[in-house]
Amino acid sequence: KKKKKKPIRVYMDGCFDMMHYGHCNALRQARALGDQLVVGVVSDAEIIANKGPPVTPLHERMIMVNAVKWVDEVISDAPYAITEDFMKKLFDEYNIDYIIHGDDPCVLPDGTDAYALAKKAGRYKQIKRTEGVSSTDIVGRMLLCTRERSISDSHNHSSLQRQFSHGHSQKFEAGGSGTITRVSHFLPTSRRIVQFSNGKGPGDDARIVYIDGAFDLFHAGHVERGNEFKSKCGMAGTLVDEDLGLVVTKHNKFMRKIGLAYDKYTGKKDILLTSRFSGLLERLGDFLLVGIHNDQTVSAKRGAHRPIMNLHERSLSVLACQYVDEVIIGAPWEISKDMITTFNISSVVHGSIAENDDFQEERDNPYAVPISMGIFKVLDSPLDITTTTIIRRIVSNHEAY
Ligand code: CTP
Repeated sequence: KKKKKKPIRVYMDGCFDMMHYGHCNALRQARALGDQLVVGVVSDAEIIANKGPPVTPLHERMIMVNAVKWVDEVISDAPYAITEDFMKKLFDEYNIDYIIHGDDPCVLPDGTDAYALAKKAGRYKQIKRTEGVSSTDIVGRMLLCTRERSISDSHNHSSLQRQFSHGHSQKFEAGGSGTITRVSHFLPTSRRIVQFSNGKGPGDDARIVYIDGAFDLFHAGHVERGNEFKSKCGMAGTLVDEDLGLVVTKHNKFMRKIGLAYDKYTGKKDILLTSRFSGLLERLGDFLLVGIHNDQTVSAKRGAHRPIMNLHERSLSVLACQYVDEVIIGAPWEISKDMITTFNISSVVHGSIAENDDFQEERDNPYAVPISMGIFKVLDSPLDITTTTIIRRIVSNHEAY
């Protein structure tokens, strides 16, 4: 009888600050080099010492890495460089076979290679770094987004580079005048989308839950929603976009009008439109379909400088999330009866924390159809983070220099 082969365990570490699809693609490739992927998320202190303060603190970075569908285990507070001691711990305690990193040089402040020891031990493997995206590039796009801020002067420019790169490729896009441009260099291919997809449709009698939004800078607020929902309802989880939604106050006013009721299962936590929705909380669905608004729609609602990430970039980030079954790449702002029928949607959900949108008239409510059908539901957003929060953090980090 053949002995069952020991699974190959691989380790990838990183900061995963402002998690983007380049990070997700790195994790996907790392997972393909073995059977189980263990990810080390570098501590805040280690990032500060090696490349300047992170925008997202460790607990948010942990949420993001944990949500990626190719990740099996996560270690928090990982060191920035693989030391002799830590490498021994990886081999002996975590049973790691290989240590993996992108093919970009990763140098420590003293100029040495952060993976020298792993390479010497013959336990190092490399994946291809994803072109066209980096934290530095995203920060550049965000600073442009805060229009009034002039980032063309060279002092600011170089302080940002110092903060968001660590010796390798300086990914800032310098325009003719030395200003940062907002051009995405990402070229979406059908192959990449296939690599990120689950490739499975809903089963015959699956209840399909629909959620839409911009999912710009897919962040911990988006993911936590899915997490909380999963533990509460015991289903595959869901996601709520807080970037493009209803104004909380205006929306609540609207709901009160048509009969606001608090859910009897969770007390005040979930606001339901009518009491007949209470039963929905137990099991809302089996298949999560996420609608991602196209760039024009997001610009029209959020301003010309949004979205920061384009439609395809946003789609890949959402697809990498373990709670998501399928995405609509370029979903309409208003949910029509037609769409509900076509996709066989059984409920439409939205988060309670959303960025301000102009819903002047109740008849402009994009959820009017699902509301009238009695399949619309607002879920409480557990984390008070929106894309604006993240942008604010960047600007204040930047000013700290
Ligand atoms: N990575 C990648 N492609 C990118 C960005 C990162 O493959 N576009 C990989 C890195 O090579 C590393 C892992 O993702 O193996 C974790 O990255 P992190 O430590 O966060 O790396 P950075 O290189 O700093 O990424 P960024 O510049 O985007 O912050």
